Amino acid sequence: MSESEAMGPRIHRGLKDVYFDRSGVSSIDGRAGELRYRGYTIHDLAENATFEEVCGLLLYGELPTREQLAQIDSELKASRGIPAEVYALIASLKNSHPMEVLRTAVSALGALCPESNDTSTSALLRQGLQLTAKVPTIITSHYRLCRGLDPVEPSRELAHAANFLYMLHGVEPTADTARILDVDLVLHAEHGSNASSFTARVVAGTGANLHSALTAAIGALSGPAHGGAAEDVSKMVREIGEPANAAAWVKEKRAQREPIMGFGHRVYRARDPRVRHLSDRAERLSRELGQPQWYAVLQAVVEAMRPYSRLGVNVNVDFYAGVIYHLLGIPQDFFVPIFAMGRVPGWVIQVREQVENNILIRPLTLYDGPPARDWVPIDARG
Ligand SMILES: CC(C)(COP(=O)(O)OP(=O)(O)OC[C@H]1O[C@@H](n2cnc3c(N)ncnc32)[C@H](O)[C@@H]1OP(=O)(O)O)[C@@H](O)C(=O)NCCC(=O)NCCS
Repeated sequence: MSESEAMGPRIHRGLKDVYFDRSGVSSIDGRAGELRYRGYTIHDLAENATFEEVCGLLLYGELPTREQLAQIDSELKASRGIPAEVYALIASLKNSHPMEVLRTAVSALGALCPESNDTSTSALLRQGLQLTAKVPTIITSHYRLCRGLDPVEPSRELAHAANFLYMLHGVEPTADTARILDVDLVLHAEHGSNASSFTARVVAGTGANLHSALTAAIGALSGPAHGGAAEDVSKMVREIGEPANAAAWVKEKRAQREPIMGFGHRVYRARDPRVRHLSDRAERLSRELGQPQWYAVLQAVVEAMRPYSRLGVNVNVDFYAGVIYHLLGIPQDFFVPIFAMGRVPGWVIQVREQVENNILIRPLTLYDGPPARDWVPIDARG
């Protein structure tokens, strides 16, 4: 018996560095710190594209022409409403965490969608665009209902990011503020085989419908190792309080071998390329709003974490997202739902890829439980 046979099959815990399929949607070079959607660098997209343009690029494969963009924009605007049953459901769950509410509401949309089991490409893309439009309405309706406020009717005029802030606060945001959220959504729209997108593909691979895949993806995103990090970063900032406390706080956490939230990534060893588009904006927004403290604490944490950079542990996208949401007047428990709102097109297109060239995703676990043994009648146990 060879040495490798004696050791048994190689186990890739956490599927680290395993390619399970091909994808034409996004590419990540973790060593170089590069991210591209369909070949376009994230830097060009963050600097030039709107979320609606990125939806077109991800869902239909090319940057949309003016006419195509107008069509996407008008379909999104026309699909923002949610059924009365979903409003009632949100109202009945208004005291729950926003991610629980979002997951349940998306599942309910599936139960109410007459074509939910149509997984043809045209139905998937149509339903995907509708879900992209409805998710902000779910989030903002819940935000208002849990504060005893009436939900705001979706605008038929405003762009996706501006409409979200309008439905949240009841006032139209400035163009500058809306653009900050727009960029955040562009940066979160797609990210390869992350845990939630993989979850969506596993569900779609069984032949289950798009709403089921997205319901499961929202569940996966809610965990602190994935989407929950921005929320944890804001808890960390409150706990640290002053920039001068950051170094001791980081030292203490590392002594307990606890991860520092907003740092590290399964794929990036270099700095996450999305970070700079949020860090600059977070710094500017803090200054403009006269609230420099939060940003100052974050910079002190970055400084304290500098020695970990040579181990490949660098700041990730969620580190600065939280400060931006906070400065936009969004409470902490709504941070992950905003990540979800940006990621819908990424989930949809990965479901479409899975369905178009489907194979059931069914890996193996190596059994290491008790050896084969005889059945024990109940009276003989103990
Ligand atoms: C995202 C995350 C789960 C990736 O985990 P992973 O791929 O298993 O991490 P790695 O295997 O690359 O970790 C390598 C080393 O870096 C350390 N490390 C990873 N993330 C760290 C962090 N956030 N803080 C401090 N050290 C960290 C690990 O402890 C490990 O050290 P060890 O070899 O001494 O045990 C992890 O980095 C994490 O929990 N980060 C905080 C949560 C977060 O910000 N998530 C959002 C991701 S966009």
